[in-house]
Amino acid sequence: MTAKRILLGISGGIAAYKSAELTRLLVKAGHQVEVVMTESATRFVTPATFQALSGHTVYTDLWDPRPSNAMAHIELSRRADVFLIAPATANLLFKLAHGGCDDLISTLAAARTCPLIVAPAMNLQMWQNPPNQRNIEQLQADGVTVFGPGNGAQACGETGDGRMLEPHQIVELLHGFFADKLLAGKKVLLTAGPTYEAIDTVRGITNISSGKMGYALARACRDAGAEVTLVSGPTHLDAPMNVPRIDVQSAAEMQQAVLSEVGRSDVFISVAAVADYRVKNRSEHKIKKTAGTPAIELAENPDILATVASLPAAPFCVGFAAESQNLLEFAEAKRRRKKLPLLVANLAQQAMGADDNQVVLLDDAGQHPLPAMPKDDVAAAIVRHLAALLAKR
Ligand code: CTP
Repeated sequence: MTAKRILLGISGGIAAYKSAELTRLLVKAGHQVEVVMTESATRFVTPATFQALSGHTVYTDLWDPRPSNAMAHIELSRRADVFLIAPATANLLFKLAHGGCDDLISTLAAARTCPLIVAPAMNLQMWQNPPNQRNIEQLQADGVTVFGPGNGAQACGETGDGRMLEPHQIVELLHGFFADKLLAGKKVLLTAGPTYEAIDTVRGITNISSGKMGYALARACRDAGAEVTLVSGPTHLDAPMNVPRIDVQSAAEMQQAVLSEVGRSDVFISVAAVADYRVKNRSEHKIKKTAGTPAIELAENPDILATVASLPAAPFCVGFAAESQNLLEFAEAKRRRKKLPLLVANLAQQAMGADDNQVVLLDDAGQHPLPAMPKDDVAAAIVRHLAALLAKR
């Protein structure tokens, strides 16, 4: 994502301490951040903290004469690409929903020309309070974007909806907010991660796939406006925000989950490193060493991608090819064998488990090499290519 100018509004909730980390993450991602705070927010965290983290003067007062035209409420929002308020308290949401303008943040929101995003933070009962719910509905009807809230333990000791999203989640959603909606209206089904084929109750056959490429693609498709479902083998990754995830272990479970979802999908992207074989003589109990060296018999797993691609009403299928040699030759043969309109070829030893990847896209028009880059950028490039192919159909 290109660098943005972000006006970050902070209102008076305990989640204000998380906004220090949010500021740091936004600055680290290359954005320019200017911070405005309500008077109550300064009781939780000092403006000096945000000044140090953002590198800019922090404004708290409607009457601050420092902006060049002495109109902080106009000037600050005019130079922003987005006004993000995190945390947004119930009181601030009430003012925003009703056009109240009695402090710098609410006045800036009223006078802005850029989009407004709020990340609510409050106690569970306050969040569910009918007037607050009405205010949220009103804000959404007025075109305001609401991030969250999250669910979990609250500072007051209660548990439920109302927590501000974690800073990294807000950054993830913000990047999605600015992405081109190239896949709007499309339903995308993805597989990611390794599969695990049990040998006995504690041992199994798996591979070194981390799931990073598949998860990056799930996020990129979501950011491009698609409705995404992710079928994932065992990974250590958090499910992407707003993407339902079906957790599976074996290739057979993955195939079952895919086949039950695929009828609703326009696109199927098979990123998972599916084990080609499962254990035929799986033991119901832990195999004992005293029984001697076990003879593990293997049976071939179904090829999930090839099965989906040959369905009568197959979705647009995108495959991955992990090769360790003769990349383009083997990958193109795989694309033709599995009848895929698009295949992403990468070197297994370079791609699996890494944060960066270098891929070549193969389609009916030929080969399209991409430079080595972070998997998030590779995913965005694949989405652009996919959207262009879908548009031509
Ligand atoms: N794939 C699948 N089901 C399998 C094996 C692979 O859906 N049982 C999918 C992968 O998700 C990937 C593509 O097929 O999109 C190619 O996977 P890859 O492991 O590169 O190739 P294989 O078909 O397994 O062939 P080989 O291992 O011989 O290279």
